[in-house]
Amino acid sequence: MPADSVFLRACRRLPVAYTPVWAMRQIGRYLPAYRSVRARMSLLELCKTPPAAAEVTVRAAETLGVDAAIIFADILLVAEPLGVGLSFVRGEGPVIHRPVRTADAVRRLPDLEPADAVPFVFDAIRLARAGLPDRLPLIGFAGAPFTVASYLVEGGPSREFLETKRLMHSDPDTWNALMERLAALTTRYLNAQIAAGASAVQLFDSWIGCLAPDDYRRFVLPHSRRVIVALSPGTPVIHFGTGTAGLLELMREAGGDVIGLDWRVGLDAAWHRLGDGVAVQGNLDPALLLAPPAEIRRGVRAVLDAAAGRPGHIFNLGHGVLPQTPWEHVRAMVDAVHELSARAAP
Ligand code: CP3
Repeated sequence: MPADSVFLRACRRLPVAYTPVWAMRQIGRYLPAYRSVRARMSLLELCKTPPAAAEVTVRAAETLGVDAAIIFADILLVAEPLGVGLSFVRGEGPVIHRPVRTADAVRRLPDLEPADAVPFVFDAIRLARAGLPDRLPLIGFAGAPFTVASYLVEGGPSREFLETKRLMHSDPDTWNALMERLAALTTRYLNAQIAAGASAVQLFDSWIGCLAPDDYRRFVLPHSRRVIVALSPGTPVIHFGTGTAGLLELMREAGGDVIGLDWRVGLDAAWHRLGDGVAVQGNLDPALLLAPPAEIRRGVRAVLDAAAGRPGHIFNLGHGVLPQTPWEHVRAMVDAVHELSARAAP
């Protein structure tokens, strides 16, 4: 049963026989099986075709030998039914054609019921669950309110998040209204993923590292916390962000059973700051997977040494697998984690 899986045990800080590992963006163009499916359909078509989304989910987990599968979807799937116009442009990433920057635009956003707005995500979860071995947990996910808001406000990827910060600071009421709408939507979306068969969920706040700690506390933390406390009890929540060295204690305050770390922090020092009451996920630099397997093994050992066998470590990259990565190198990382972390069965 997934409940006694190494991954879910580690989320609950229980002892395990080896450190569980999975990789953010473990499904992607670097995998031959994914490339052949994507040659036939676009990213959005793939997300909207549950048998295909379930198949790439299961195949990636098998190919890589990881301890958890993650459902194939995207944090911006909810943007399309919000009516803001979403497309994925090759080489540029996601584009939102009608950015949301005014009180009126926020008011016009419809109140979505995820089961009606993105039914294909839940169908894909049910099919993937049925196709996975019993012991392998399936992770559901959503973008956190800030990270989704940043795409809606900017209209696409951004380095400086100037429109987002402009709105936050010049019209805090509109900002908070937007964040409240997204928090409510994200809560319903994740709870529906859990009901469909996700054994754990990850909240991606990928871009919060751009914020000053006081702004995170004031404009983001209450909304993220509202999502996390309203999720179905008993399902572990992984709270992930990048560039969070200045925000770790605040992320912890916002919540999550597991805090996802990127590679710019030492895992031991970061865990010390977070305290014993939480598990940690991370945090190998994804660029290390471009190096030969012997170097990957060395990097894996360093992360495992930093975790020092304490219960509650889930091995992962500090961010997603880079598209240039040879898939065999991801497999080499997974095998090295399993081998180097093996200990007496609990
Ligand atoms: O982790 C997995 O393997 C599951 C699938 C998954 C996708 N997107 C599919 C996808 C997950 C977990 C995501 C999350 C996501 N999407 C995030 C948060 C994670 C992170 O990387 O910080 C963000 C910010 C997005 C938005 C998004 N979608 C961007 C910025 C891009 C383009 C840039 C890129 O990395 O290629 C996408 C497109 C996208 N979503 C791809 C995949 C596999 C790219 C490959 C393709 O076009 O097939």
